[in-house]
Amino acid sequence: MKRVLSVASECVPLVKTGGLADVVGALPAAMAAQGWEMRVLLPAYRSLRGPIRDWHEVFVEEDLFGGRGVVKAGRVEGVDLLLLDAPHLYDREGGPYSSNGTDWPDNAQRFAALSWVAAKIARFGLGDGWRPQVLHAHDWQAGFAPAYLAFGGPRDVGTVITIHNIAFQGWADPSMLEGLRLPRHEFHPGSLEYYGGLSSLKAAMALSDKITTVSPSYAAELMRPEFGLGLQGLIEARAADVVGILNGVDVDVWDPEGEDMPYSAKKPKGKAQARAALCEEFELDVPGPLAIVVSRLTDQKGMDLLPQVLPDFIAAGGGLALLGSGDTALEGALLDLAARYPGRVSVKIGYDEALSHRMFAGADAVLVPSRFEPCGLTQMYGLRYGTVPVVAAVGGLADTVIHANPAALAQGVATGISFHPTDAPAFADALRRLVSLHSDSKTWAQIVKRGMAQPVGWEASAARYAALYDSILRP
Ligand code: ADP
Ligand code: GLC
Repeated sequence: MKRVLSVASECVPLVKTGGLADVVGALPAAMAAQGWEMRVLLPAYRSLRGPIRDWHEVFVEEDLFGGRGVVKAGRVEGVDLLLLDAPHLYDREGGPYSSNGTDWPDNAQRFAALSWVAAKIARFGLGDGWRPQVLHAHDWQAGFAPAYLAFGGPRDVGTVITIHNIAFQGWADPSMLEGLRLPRHEFHPGSLEYYGGLSSLKAAMALSDKITTVSPSYAAELMRPEFGLGLQGLIEARAADVVGILNGVDVDVWDPEGEDMPYSAKKPKGKAQARAALCEEFELDVPGPLAIVVSRLTDQKGMDLLPQVLPDFIAAGGGLALLGSGDTALEGALLDLAARYPGRVSVKIGYDEALSHRMFAGADAVLVPSRFEPCGLTQMYGLRYGTVPVVAAVGGLADTVIHANPAALAQGVATGISFHPTDAPAFADALRRLVSLHSDSKTWAQIVKRGMAQPVGWEASAARYAALYDSILRP
């Protein structure tokens, strides 16, 4: 098997705040099927320290940004993990990036340390003799890994940076150069410098062999200022090395036949039972389409549009069950809506993986009105669960859902509803379309069935990653 080191800040089933974790956790099995052994390097946050006590030590760095760092190797649910235990950086109460909504002040060092260790493993290998041929960094948290490797002299390891969300760029003040062990002579626009400061994501984009992002449409969008957010010029300059590879979903984890009330396209009865159970759980009684939202509540996700479009949707018979957390103002606005429309709108603030499964199983439609969406996973869960996606036509949402316009319906290819631009009038229009399609039970059943037949697994995309890795193998 060929060998690749994946470096990230999140990985299912250990730690997750969003889709990054799903992708990092699903890739190893998908890549193994392509002949690539992938190990995942991750910080040992406080919640992970207990389980790794008995794992074996494979790497030690005596002075890792102010303390000792030890890498321990083990396996969890089939994923080969390398956990970087550095208590001075990761052993604290709170989330991976923040505590009570405030970012850790030393995030630059915390993730530079992860990247530093990744680069060293790439250059010198682990105590058990394992050394990768490719280093695959995810997002800004791993961004300095390809940079440290590049600065260490000639290398025989290929490098890839995957952009899951360009809005997070890993910005740091230039006064931190030395503290982050970055060479001052590399502080220029072709390398580390970014509008007078440092950005780990920019550094990775400038210095990696390949840049990937998580859908073809987002790769194209990133060349435009409104999506590239300052990095569009670099994306364009490196266009020959930029590739959009769509995420897949873990079809064993997201499987309607594995839910409490199992169902499939052939035997759909369980879905009706799941719908009834979901209505009971959310205290809803919805004559028309029952929609769900499972999302971070942020500006990116277009959640602020819901209060504008829901009243008409409800008047037309629709209803909404929402699970999410994030922006407190948005949380408040959504709870107000639920109070205004008892029985039709129900909101649970929080994070609950098991509940999200019951929601996809029981709902008729899933709403994803994002302003930008590098890939998006919930619309794909929707397809797989026969829960028709209603999406803004951006990024990966545009690449995975075929809008039910008359031509697509006539040709029998529609899998959902999409709208553009991401604003209240277009979203409201899409919801009207949802209500009318849902009332046409024959057409609706066809859309549902077609969605469930979509190949949303990892196979095709894993093959593309494998081809990409092969293209950067060095002798
Ligand atoms: P992003 O990574 O931008 O948040 P994605 O659609 O790629 O968006 O991935 C989000 C992931 O997080 C999905 O697996 C989704 O089901 C999950 N998720 C988001 N919010 C919640 C929540 N409140 N409870 C459970 N799962 C959630
Ligand atoms: C980011 C993006 C999301 C994508 C996920 C996994 O969080 O916002 O669109 O699906 O990464 O790649």
